[in-house]
Amino acid sequence: MTALRILVTGGSGFIGAALVKALLRNGNRVRVLDDNSRGSPRRLAEVAADIELIDADIRDADAVERAAQGMDEVHHLAFVNGTEFFYKSPDLVLDVGVRGMINVIDACRRHGVGTFLLASSSEVYQTPPNIPTDENVPLVVPDPLNPRYSYGAGKLISEVMAINYGRKFFQRVLIFRPHNVYGPDMGFEHVIPQFALRLHAAAKAQPAGRLRFEIQGNGAETRSFCFIDDLVAGVMTMRDKGEHLGIYHVGTGEEVSIADLAHRIARDAGRDIELAAGPPAKGGTPRRCPDISKLARLGYKPRVSLDQGLQPTLDWYWHNGNLAPQT
Ligand SMILES: NC(=O)c1ccc[n+]([C@@H]2O[C@H](COP(=O)([O-])OP(=O)(O)OC[C@H]3O[C@@H](n4cnc5c(N)ncnc54)[C@H](O)[C@@H]3O)[C@@H](O)[C@H]2O)c1
Repeated sequence: MTALRILVTGGSGFIGAALVKALLRNGNRVRVLDDNSRGSPRRLAEVAADIELIDADIRDADAVERAAQGMDEVHHLAFVNGTEFFYKSPDLVLDVGVRGMINVIDACRRHGVGTFLLASSSEVYQTPPNIPTDENVPLVVPDPLNPRYSYGAGKLISEVMAINYGRKFFQRVLIFRPHNVYGPDMGFEHVIPQFALRLHAAAKAQPAGRLRFEIQGNGAETRSFCFIDDLVAGVMTMRDKGEHLGIYHVGTGEEVSIADLAHRIARDAGRDIELAAGPPAKGGTPRRCPDISKLARLGYKPRVSLDQGLQPTLDWYWHNGNLAPQT
């Protein structure tokens, strides 16, 4: 395998760090650009000596331009992720998403980078009309007044830019749409870490008996959770075999309800829970499950079931709750 020089933006984030390690294992040279606003060099500690780490904002055009110099590939992952930020800071989500994308594309063009990989999202569909959802379902922004859609809109713009600039200026552009990726150290603003830590706190406060556990909505909403190792395997399959301007789902077909998820987490904690329904998130989709057959045709096969992946994930949160941002 030829060693390539690869820039990963957002490389100290949850997915970025895992991707960086996989690229290094394959013999590549990796440079990371991240402002560590949500990422952390901690995630890259074991490979710190093998990478170049640039602490910079993706909105800083000069820094991005310097980072792209000498690269064969750029993998663009820097983005403000985490549902609560979509509601709280939609302007920041778009600023980082759109300005960042323009800077990255400009830098690649300036330095003749031939290959560009973009992390998009399942959120480009918002409420998908078909389940499982394939890559041909239209991308929508259902309501510009709902701040939640800042994220999906930023991804939609990024995809359209990647395709159209890609046609003209790149040899190879590939887009992946991850679906609910999880694993140890995935951040704190997601359903699995939040359930894990809330359950832990409730169990401590009430050492015996059935616990009352509040959830958003009535628990019937579904998601398909993809373990980080499967996500990385999917991206690597796409990178190896995907076609220019190709768009690929990476996820699993194992669809579970939020109620089921809560019960699995409680079971792993050794506790019995009673769910208490709360108001649903405004703009959240009732079901999400990707059709992954396009990537499967290239050889992708998720290997980690939710039960298998939950265990190390929950263990991590139950031992590292102290790393949660203090609010
Ligand atoms: N985790 C998922 O389930 C999921 C699902 C769909 C799409 N994605 C996409 O995959 C990519 C990686 O997601 P993740 O889960 O690792 O999230 P993450 O928040 O852990 O990683 C994003 C990284 O971008 C960095 N970043 C944010 N703003 C920046 C800025 N202004 N300048 C430089 N860096 C900045 C953060 O510090 C962080 O390290 C993102 O583009 C995300 O939108 C993730």
